[in-house]
Amino acid sequence: MGSLTTVPLFSYSLVLSFLPTLIVAQLNPVYFEHDCNQGSGNYTPNSTYEANLNSIISRFATLSYFNYGFFNLSAGESSDKVYSIALCRGDMNQADCNTCLNSTATELKQFCLRNKIAMAWSELCLVRYANRDLYGLLENDPHTCAFNPMNASNPTQFNRALSELLNNLSSEAAASGPLRKYAAGNAPTGILQTVYATVQCTPDMTQENCTACLNYGRRELRLCCLGRMGCRVLRPTCVLRFESNPFYNETAVPLPSPPTTSSPTPSPGNGNNTTRTVIIVIASVVGLLILITISICIFKRPKRNKDIPIKVETKDADNEMSGADSLQFGFDSVLVATDNFSDANKLGQGGFGAVYKGQLPNGEEIAVKRLSKGSGQGDLEFKTKVQLVAKLQHRNLVRLLGFCLQEQERLLIYEFVPNASLDHFIFDRIRRAELDWETRFKIIHGIVRGLLYLHEDSRLRIIHRDLKASNILLDAEMVPKIADFGMARLF
Ligand SMILES: *[C@@H]1O[C@H](CO)[C@@H](O)[C@H](O)[C@H]1NC(C)=O
Ligand SMILES: *[C@@H]1O[C@H](CO)[C@@H](O)[C@H](O)[C@H]1NC(C)=O
Ligand SMILES: *[C@@H]1O[C@H](CO)[C@@H](O)[C@H](O)[C@H]1NC(C)=O
Ligand SMILES: *[C@@H]1O[C@H](CO)[C@@H](O)[C@H](O)[C@H]1NC(C)=O
Ligand SMILES: *[C@@H]1O[C@H](CO)[C@@H](O)[C@H](O)[C@H]1NC(C)=O
Ligand SMILES: *[C@@H]1O[C@H](CO)[C@@H](O)[C@H](O)[C@H]1NC(C)=O
Ligand SMILES: *[C@@H]1O[C@H](CO)[C@@H](O)[C@H](O)[C@H]1NC(C)=O
Repeated sequence: MGSLTTVPLFSYSLVLSFLPTLIVAQLNPVYFEHDCNQGSGNYTPNSTYEANLNSIISRFATLSYFNYGFFNLSAGESSDKVYSIALCRGDMNQADCNTCLNSTATELKQFCLRNKIAMAWSELCLVRYANRDLYGLLENDPHTCAFNPMNASNPTQFNRALSELLNNLSSEAAASGPLRKYAAGNAPTGILQTVYATVQCTPDMTQENCTACLNYGRRELRLCCLGRMGCRVLRPTCVLRFESNPFYNETAVPLPSPPTTSSPTPSPGNGNNTTRTVIIVIASVVGLLILITISICIFKRPKRNKDIPIKVETKDADNEMSGADSLQFGFDSVLVATDNFSDANKLGQGGFGAVYKGQLPNGEEIAVKRLSKGSGQGDLEFKTKVQLVAKLQHRNLVRLLGFCLQEQERLLIYEFVPNASLDHFIFDRIRRAELDWETRFKIIHGIVRGLLYLHEDSRLRIIHRDLKASNILLDAEMVPKIADFGMARLF
């Protein structure tokens, strides 16, 4: 067995970006990768929990219905209830699927002796079990990535073809029916060379969540496997794989057909391509000019205030104070959400203080800005500012969800934006290439819309005053969101 090594990838210096450590392993001939959730507690030998788990495992070998290789099983009651989700690769037939699930689940239980929660990925299937429901939940951990140590001979061409292929397959898989979310395909990478790939989500994912999972997966794949001749990215709710040989059954019946409503993005005809490129380039240049003009205006402004220097008429603020309480988070609940501001949850450190990732009890992910102590700001002033900023709601602005005030602590709670900030893309030699013109244009367009909203369309008139690439966050779909109104000034 190849040994597992933990590879710290890179540390994002900035705010609101999140990338857990990847585990990188080399491929084994008989593939088996597993994760025992040590924190999940243990079941006692011969307990009801174990019996329930065994009953699920025994069902895997003999499942008499196929369901396109997807299974949502459970056994037992209340605290002894065991939940399980299992998925075979989209080209499997029932017999091979049953065999894979049985052996993978049996092996998993042996490896993860007594852990209540565990999961495994093997050559043709994945199996998860837990003492809680798993169905329909997009989950990011555990995740792992394994590659073929051989390098592609023409990496640039290979990566370009691969990236386009995975992009196509991801949209196809996410948009396919509720029973199977799988796509396989290949693309030429040079003379007599081809890359083959499959992507698959567990079908309990919605199109949106499948897309999100595959986006994370593709990002992980680029970090882990760029230039390699083969790679697997394994996540709880989706898997991606590419190889330079055909590893899947190309003749497997493509079932079921996608719902009529969702269709892949229309592709322009070849004749239109040049015109289209020209339009995009012109539009981008215009967009950039607008941005530059705005930035110049912004930087020409004289005074700079600290913290959140939004000034308002006090009278106006008083009227609206009552609403502020609904934005207030309890300090204890923030402590729970961020695991006591643990280092593991720290996303970055800015001039104003540190930012932590957190999760609310309802599963919503948040980013908590812990402002440096002693900003000397009064409670009322702070609340007023928060309330104003919270009113600014736009697709292209990072949303402020609330705040927390506890003695010296001043916390701002924002929506969590999964992708890195723009500077991580445009100033990085490799990742820069991921931004095609279409995406760049989309980002520019989004930023301008965000600014327009701040300047013209919101009830308040806000000038950002610190607009820069590191203040533009990108969500899973690469939609830009303007962050950090710390310099904002209200007119
Ligand atoms: C569990 O049951 C098996 C078979 O009945 C028995 O051999 C074993 O000793 C039991 N283990 C414990 C810890 O009770
Ligand atoms: C999946 O399994 C869980 C646990 O048994 C059950 O509550 C849920 O209804 C199942 N979902 C579907 C769509 O079958
Ligand atoms: C299930 O897998 C285990 C371990 O590989 C094996 O011993 C057992 O015979 C299998 N069960 C069936 C019904 O195939
Ligand atoms: C996506 O996954 C999240 C997290 O598990 C879940 O709360 C949400 O309901 C899912 N979204 C959809 C549209 O199913
Ligand atoms: C592949 O490339 C990486 C980095 O460029 C290098 O470290 C590694 O030794 C190469 N592997 C082989 C098998 O050539
Ligand atoms: C990706 O999809 C586009 C549009 O359907 C198509 O033109 C292109 O050839 C596809 N590329 C690959 C590598 O499959
Ligand atoms: C591929 O799938 C087809 C259709 O399900 C099946 O007839 C064929 O035997 C499969 N080939 C292999 C090598 O599994």
